[in-house]
Amino acid sequence: MNIFTDIGSWRDARRGVTGSLGFVPTMGNLHAGHLDLVYRARKNNDFVAVSIFVNPAQFNDKADFEKYQRTFDADCALLKDAGADFVFHPDAKEIYADDYTLRVTETVIAEELEGAFRPGHFAGMLTVVLKLLNIIAPTRAYFGEKDYQQLLLVQKMCAALFLPLEIVPCPTLRDASGLALSSRNGRLTEGGRAHAALIYKTLMSDMDDAAAKDVLDHAGFRTEYVTTKWGRRLCAAWLGDVRLIDNVPKDPLSPHLRGEG
Ligand code: PAF
Repeated sequence: MNIFTDIGSWRDARRGVTGSLGFVPTMGNLHAGHLDLVYRARKNNDFVAVSIFVNPAQFNDKADFEKYQRTFDADCALLKDAGADFVFHPDAKEIYADDYTLRVTETVIAEELEGAFRPGHFAGMLTVVLKLLNIIAPTRAYFGEKDYQQLLLVQKMCAALFLPLEIVPCPTLRDASGLALSSRNGRLTEGGRAHAALIYKTLMSDMDDAAAKDVLDHAGFRTEYVTTKWGRRLCAAWLGDVRLIDNVPKDPLSPHLRGEG
């Protein structure tokens, strides 16, 4: 597995990559959910590249950016075992030579839910994803459905800007309790993780969105939203100082609920 930190040397290597290239963008602190994306990329492509870049532009809260766990050596060991060929690990100067004065914005989907509660988040996310896609030049890029609004925005950006690649949506991985895997779970206590599984149970229940929000609030969460749209039921809730998001397919006949995801 080769590690690249600058765009020039990656581009030299990219010219020698013949065949399809699957790409998994990450911010590191990898868990089984990320590795599942790598396995999917491995299965359907000749080569696999993974980026590890904690993108300052998408953190609306500076403390959250600083608290984000950096585990580069452990991440590389996991990626090597999972069969990744290339890791791209730039620093912020490499990615933001323009000082983030040029950014990508979307004005409909990006304004609500996550966008409303995290101002600037989606512009930072779309800008870095566009940069990474232009640098890596993949055949396919893999995004988890856990960040459902992110997935919709990336699909929309790629279509609107005519980017020549396929975006592959991948189902959310959950632990045995139903809790969606997330790097943020590492900041919960064991008891907190068990309690956080209530988010999934509530989303899957027959309650309407308002009642579901009440249940979570009464159980000690600070719930920002429970909303049904885009064929999903989506939620963001704080447990202590950890912000968790999740969503489930709303249509009971969707492939994930039939176990075909
Ligand atoms: O989902 C993430 O980890 C990030 O938003 C991404 C896509 C790597 C962009 O920084």
